[in-house]
Formats: sequence, structure tokens, C-alpha cells
Amino acid sequence: ETTPDQPRRRVLLAKPRGYCAGVDRAVETVELALEKYGPPVYVRKEIVHNRHVVETLRARGAIFVDETDEVPEGALVVFSAHGVSPAVHEEARSRGLRTIDATCPLVTKVHQEAKRFARDDYDILLIGHEGHEEVEGTAGEAPEHIQLVDKAEDVDKVVVRDPSKVIWLSQTTLSVDETMERVSQLRERFPELQDPPSDDICYATQNRQVAVKAMAPECDLVLVVGSRNSSNSKRLVEVALQAGARDAHLVDYAHEVDEAWLDGVTTVGVTSGASVPDVLVMQLLEWLAERGWADVEEITTANEKIAFALPRELRKDLVR
Ligand code: F3S
Repeated sequence: ETTPDQPRRRVLLAKPRGYCAGVDRAVETVELALEKYGPPVYVRKEIVHNRHVVETLRARGAIFVDETDEVPEGALVVFSAHGVSPAVHEEARSRGLRTIDATCPLVTKVHQEAKRFARDDYDILLIGHEGHEEVEGTAGEAPEHIQLVDKAEDVDKVVVRDPSKVIWLSQTTLSVDETMERVSQLRERFPELQDPPSDDICYATQNRQVAVKAMAPECDLVLVVGSRNSSNSKRLVEVALQAGARDAHLVDYAHEVDEAWLDGVTTVGVTSGASVPDVLVMQLLEWLAERGWADVEEITTANEKIAFALPRELRKDLVR
């Protein structure tokens, strides 16, 4: 029962949230490979950056490795959704590994752009997070043409050969606003800086940020379900705070929520990163309901219908 001096506790649930088409495809690829070929199926790096997904697949027989040299000769290895550099493909070939490439097609698109502008001898300024697997893969397409721009201070360190032949590209999972800020800083130095032929920050990243922005101003607390190493999930926490949420946290599981965060809170916003299965969000909603936040309203800012075909190497074996 609510009384006038007891504001109504409620949950706003962002939509779209959770799985994107690239993650869905990558996870299904490992599941089907396990079914079709039987364990062990090796996976280079985490197939997607989510603890629950990785632990579930590991229990079913996937073996996660950091590098292909940890995979026995002739074994099957899946490349993760974040993409790999040509050097990794080459190494796998030279060791006789069977490979399935689960790189998201929207990451592959950025690789193609990098190759094309490197071929045309551009200096490519790749906006992204240093050390992130996706950036390592993309930069590996043309190391001699690509410079990484992560923080604002990196802008001053960029050196180009011809200021009329410079283009920026980006990681797919960045904050849209922060990226545009970086671009305008770069453009101050290089007024002729060219934009990518199409958005590199993918539809899923953009849609999840738009959705969290729509609800954040009404939220005392935003809970983002996602793992610490998930770039797009971390960005959702930042975007929520920038858009006016009083407080925001990233959690892998409901039990990680600190009850103290709920002190004085009326409205809780909930969303999840692109690598997060919705069952984890449902568990969080149950956890909140048990504590008095049972009233859930979904805030929809877009409907996503995109899906990607499975990797060709896998599809050919699945023909019935
Ligand atoms: Fe692909 Fe974007 Fe998901 S690049 S893996 S659709 S977050």
C-alpha cells in the first residue's frame, strides 16, 4: 500500500537491452559446434564478454584459450565475436587448426574499411579502447596505417603524413557522445579529417544507449547487468550517469547488488549489455520484486529485428 508520503516504488526496464545479433550468432556458433562435432571445442578468447555465458559454455565442453598456440594441432577453434587480426588467421593455418570465425559481421565491416583505406594509403585514426580485443584485431589489418586514439590526450600524439588524407574509424561498442567529442578534437587538428563511410558504432550499441538515456533522468538508481570486461556494458553505466541517473552500477548477477544502493531510492532503471542473456535480467527483476520493487514498466525506444546468418564454415556442415 502506498501512502502520500511514500512514493511508489517502480522499475523502468529499458528496451532494447541484452543480446545483439552478433552475440546471439557467436554463442549459437559454439553451442552448435559442440553439438555437431562434440567437445572439446576450443574458443580463442571469451566468445562474448559475459561471465555467465562463458561459464555455461565451459561446462558444456568449450575450452577457452588466450592464444591459438594453446590449441592442439588439428583441433577445432572458434574465433570470438570481437574479431581477430590476419596474423591470428595465419597462425591458425600454419598450425593446421580447423577454424570457425564467429566475428560479428559489423566488426568485419570495420576491418574491410581499415583495409580499404590502408590500400588507398590513408592515415587511419582508430578511436577505441587500448588493449580491447576488437581494437587489436582491427589494427592488425593495417598496423602501419593505423594509430589508436583512446583518451583525449592521445589526440595530441597523432602524427599524420598528409593532413588531407586522414580518416577516423572506431570500435563498435563505444559511447556515441564520447566518440563524437574525440572526433571534434581530432578535427580541430585535422580539419580535413574524413568520416567513416557508415557508422562504426553498431546499431545495438547505439540503441542500448538511446534506451538508457530515455529512462535515466527518472531514475534514482540504474542497474546495468553486464561483465567488467564488456565495453558496451560499461558505457551504459557512464551514459546513465551522464543522462541524469543519480547513481548507476554494473553487476554480473542480482546477488552482486548492494542493498545499501537502494536506500532512499524510488525508481530503479534496469538494462543490460549486448552480451547478456535476458535470464540474468529476469533474475534481477525477481530480486528487486522481493525487496518491494515489483512494479515494472518497459520503456521501449526501438524494436530490433536484425539477425545474422551463422558462419559459413559451420553452415556447410549443418545442411540436413
Ligand atoms: Fe556486433 Fe554490435 Fe553486437 S558489433 S557483436 S552487433 S555489439
